[in-house]
Parts: sequence; C-alpha cells; structure tokens
Amino acid sequence: MEKTLKAELNSPVTADNPHLSREHIAAIEQGFTQAINRENTFAEKYDLRQRLFGTDDVLPMWVADMDLPTPPFIIETLQQRLEHLVLGYNLMPETLYQSIIDWQAQHHYVVQGSHIRFTHNVANGFFMAVQAFSQAGDGVLVMPPIYPPFLNAPQANGRQTIEVPLVLNNERYEMDFAAIETAIKKFHVKLLLFCNPQNPSGRVWSKEELQQLAEICLRHNVVILSDEIHSDLTFAPHQHIPMASLSEDIAQQTITLSSPGKTFNLGGLQVGYAIIDNPQLRKQYTQICQQNSIHDLNTFALHATISAYSQQGREYLPLLKQHLQNNIQTFSGFLSEHYPKVNVMQPQAGYLVWLDFSEMFDNQQELKAWLINDCKLGLNDGLSFGEVGKGYMRINLAVSTKTLQQAIQRMQKTLLQCNSVS
Ligand SMILES: Cc1ncc(COP(=O)(O)O)c(C=O)c1O
Repeated sequence: MEKTLKAELNSPVTADNPHLSREHIAAIEQGFTQAINRENTFAEKYDLRQRLFGTDDVLPMWVADMDLPTPPFIIETLQQRLEHLVLGYNLMPETLYQSIIDWQAQHHYVVQGSHIRFTHNVANGFFMAVQAFSQAGDGVLVMPPIYPPFLNAPQANGRQTIEVPLVLNNERYEMDFAAIETAIKKFHVKLLLFCNPQNPSGRVWSKEELQQLAEICLRHNVVILSDEIHSDLTFAPHQHIPMASLSEDIAQQTITLSSPGKTFNLGGLQVGYAIIDNPQLRKQYTQICQQNSIHDLNTFALHATISAYSQQGREYLPLLKQHLQNNIQTFSGFLSEHYPKVNVMQPQAGYLVWLDFSEMFDNQQELKAWLINDCKLGLNDGLSFGEVGKGYMRINLAVSTKTLQQAIQRMQKTLLQCNSVS
C-alpha cells in the first residue's frame, strides 16, 4: 500500500511563524540580480581556484553551493541567536523535529520524529550508512555519473565500489536494471547509494523507475540509501517521489537523507538528517552514530533549520525555483544559439547542469584548457563523476543574473576570438 503523501501541515501561520515581509522579498530579489563578492571569506569555490584550475582568473561555477545570499529571514534568526552571547551546548528541541516533520509532510511525505537522526551534513550520513549496512569487502553499488563522494565512501571504508553506469536514452539518463541485478548477485552488494533527484544530471526519477529499483533491492536484501538533498528544488511538472513513500516494504528497506542545506544555501553550517523507519536499521545506524559520537546539530544549524522550514521558507522556495529556472533557460538558450554542439541536459531539479562537449572536444584535457584559458570559467570536470563523465562538464547556475551575464560574456568573447582567427 502506498504511504500517505503530503499530509496536512501542523504549524499554522502565527506571530512566531510569519509570512515573508515586503523588505524580505525586496532583499531576496536584489540577491537574485546583484553579484555578491565571496572572495576573502574562505569560500571553497573561490579559494581553491589556484589549486584546481592553476589560476585565480576564472569565474568559479563548480562547488554546489549558491552564489546567492542565504535568505534574509535565516540570517536574522542567526543574528538574534548571536545577540544572546552564549554559544554553549544544546538539546535538540521538539520544535526542530516538528519543523522537519512539517516540511517533509508539506513537500514530500509523512515522517515520524522518532525516526529522525541528525548528521553533520548529508555526506556524513552516507559515509556512516556504509559503515552501518556493509562489512569490509562487501559491495556498495553506485550509478555513475554520480556526485563524487558516492564513489569514495565505499573505498574509504574498505568496501568495494561497484559501478553500474546510467545509460543514455533520448538524451536522458536511465537505470540499467538488468545490470544492477547482475552486479548485486555477483559482488555481494549490501547497500545501494542512490541519488534522488540525481546529481549531476538533475534527473527526477519516476514512480515506476523507483519501484523497479526498490523491488530488485528487496529481492536481494540490499539496503537503499536515498540521498534526497536536491528534492525541494524539483521543477514542475516533475514531481519528487521519496523512495520511502512508495510502500511500507520499501520504507522498511530505505534510509532517507535530507537537509535544508541546498535549498537555503547553508552548506557551511554542516547540517543534515537521516530518516529511518525500520527499527533494526535504525538501531544499526544509531550504533555507528554512537561509535563516532555524532548526535546533534550545532547551534547555527539547529536555528537555521527551524527558520528555513518555516512559512517564510515555504514562501521563499517558489521564488528561488523561478530564479533558477530563468538562469537555466537563459544559459541553455545562449548555448543552443552560439554553441549548438554543446548538448545541455535539462535538469528536472536543482541548479547543476550537465553539459556534453563531446562533439566539440574528444580530449578532456583540451576541453578543460579551453574552458579555463579561453572562457575563463571554472567548472567541475565530468571525469570526477566517474569514467562515463568523459566529454562532460558540470556547471552551477545558482548565481545572480549579473554573474550569469558575466559567464555568458566570457563565452561570447571566446566565440568572437575564434571567429576573428578563422
Ligand atoms: C547528492 C548530494 N549529496 C550530498 C551533498 C553534500 O551535502 P552536505 O554538504 O550536506 O554533505 C551534495 C552536494 O553537492 C550532493 O549533491
């Protein structure tokens, strides 16, 4: 039986849970249009340019955080907390659990507070899941191209990373169910690290696809780790379906990971949570948390989560999604007009865009050199998402319209230079 999707919201709009103010909306809109200078703030995206690209002279459009201000109502919440002047230890209050329950209920599915375990970010959650649900030497299955830590987490814990690549069909990725089942049997796979929606392609999986994958996992008793960090940013008409919402049996086989980190640009706060329905799996996972002394969110992550998962957060989300869709449309339009050989995989969720340059370059080093030296853009190398990423680059379009124009101008200038040489 399908589990209840999107229950009623428990917390009404009150003085403690207000709407966005006019000033908030003006600040959000300004943030979407004006570039924000992140240099000299220890921002990874900027400070690693020299090491990664060999130069600081690239517009960095790689790490998956947003070059947009964290929403003003969250900043105000953190400022108010700092006014108290004491940053001691915290309990995880009922209001925190309730904010997660309400957010998930309204946007995704019904979650019980006692099934939530906090993580020190979402990657931390899937690294611990590898420890909890597999033994040394076991296979952990991943489907590249995939967010690079999925490839590292098994190996870092002495497990085998079993790769079953996604296959391209009509310019979109699909899962190879036959190859998945064969690999599970052959390599003693105990755990699947699954990305829903998918990074780097922005693919939102259909109910039928999720069902088919889950049935294979149930048949072979493979635990499903469903990383749903990008789920809030699903664009209509696509709909995010939480893996654990499909049926009670599937919920019992699934660990869901989520976070307000991507949606509200809170990556630096180290925030995340796991939702685990099955008591035995919860016990195994909790034991790993205890062995590593990982229990709670830090002060800022705790207050930011409550503030993000509020009425104001609900009102911010459609504004953000509209801005991201505008950027994706503008950039895709530019490429299709001026670089028609670059194939843009239209994301169904999120702000990361997977670009296929294989018709322009058959050598990855030349592709990288062209982007860095000629376009002066710092993108993620497709190869870091697995061998199947050859020929690809990932661009992060969570930027202001001004920054997007700068990126476009840089590519336009390169085009003019090419034309004047030829
Ligand atoms: C699928 C996926 N999971 C996890 C993360 C990292 O999240 P966190 O910073 O909470 O570890 C990312 C960041 O890009 C991601 O794309």
